[in-house]
Amino acid sequence: MKNIQDVSLEGKRVLIRVDFNVPLDEHFNITDNSRILAALPTIKKVISCGGKAILMSHLGRPKDSFEEKFSLKHIVKQLSKLIDRTVAFSSDCIGESTTADISKMENGDVLVLENLRFYKEEKLGGLKFAKQLSELADIYINDAFGTAHRAHASTAIIADYFPNTKYFGFLLSGEIESLEKALTTPKRPFTAIIGGAKISGKIDVIKSLFDKVDNLIIGGGMAYTFAKACSGNIGKSLVEEEKIALAKQLIEDAKNRGVNLLLPSDSVNANDFKNDANTNITDIKNIADEYMGLDIGPESIASFSSIIKNSKTIIWNGPMGVFEMENFCKGTKEIGEAICEATENGAFSLVGGGDSVAAVKKFGFADKVSYISTGGGAMLEYLEGKELPGVVAIQKS
Ligand code: 3PG
Repeated sequence: MKNIQDVSLEGKRVLIRVDFNVPLDEHFNITDNSRILAALPTIKKVISCGGKAILMSHLGRPKDSFEEKFSLKHIVKQLSKLIDRTVAFSSDCIGESTTADISKMENGDVLVLENLRFYKEEKLGGLKFAKQLSELADIYINDAFGTAHRAHASTAIIADYFPNTKYFGFLLSGEIESLEKALTTPKRPFTAIIGGAKISGKIDVIKSLFDKVDNLIIGGGMAYTFAKACSGNIGKSLVEEEKIALAKQLIEDAKNRGVNLLLPSDSVNANDFKNDANTNITDIKNIADEYMGLDIGPESIASFSSIIKNSKTIIWNGPMGVFEMENFCKGTKEIGEAICEATENGAFSLVGGGDSVAAVKKFGFADKVSYISTGGGAMLEYLEGKELPGVVAIQKS
């Protein structure tokens, strides 16, 4: 991959597309700085080689003009602390004021540009906007894996203006290498664990994983649609009625392809969506009418864990239950523990998706898995076998 390891950066204006789309609280404090931490190796490389690091990103989904809560000025203090140097901020991302801010930069300086999505042309992939961005720099680096599935001006279109000076940052190349390691040369058994609330967003990834994995474990809210597809009584559990036929089809497809599809056999249920609700544990197909399933049960934990501990390659996307609530976190926590144990015994484990990454951090597993992806949608699209526009734009000559 074309990364920046051996590129001469001294004195160069280096425009780095990072994904600083980080969660902020109501006082604009960053509540999870993982994406910023993950971008540091590239930023440090540029400044330590005497380059001028110009960072551009989106934050949230503003309509198409300035909104205080989406301003990237909120990340400047934290970034400055993390790299231990002053970070300047440009209140625009193109135009005269930004050009003036860049002209003041010394070698080794860092400048953050204002949110790209304050211009609607960013998401539209506007050529003129991409060109204006490109004119700010000599070198373009894409290090925004989390946004690599978007064909936006700053992630894909801009690359054409740097035919010989476009590169992957360390984060983006590391993400692709990890995914490739799991998908193209997996040590077997290869197990994927897919959870989360809904089947809808994960149909394509499940289908595509059928071609690759030995075991596919399903947990989380989506498991109840599968249980209903198997004629279960799931009470008030989350269900996607319109996906029941599809769930049946997926169960059939797994059989035909020789994939071991594991669905939870039991469920932890509650009579309200509250931590202190009344609870019981039942067969997942026998939940009382006034109860809803909020976590996988002990029998499912045991059978999933045993498969996971025997696996040599593991991909995890999506929690097993409502792990944010103390009484419904056990499934997610114990599946995480099984992944850590497998990793300790030599398996390669890759965790991605906002909720599973949050769970891994909450339970203190972050250092015990092989790789934590910064991508949610981008990781899923890669697993689906789709080409990511941000990656293709750098690869094509
Ligand atoms: C993400 O958080 O998944 C990325 O930053 C992409 O954001 P988007 O879904 O708003 O394009």
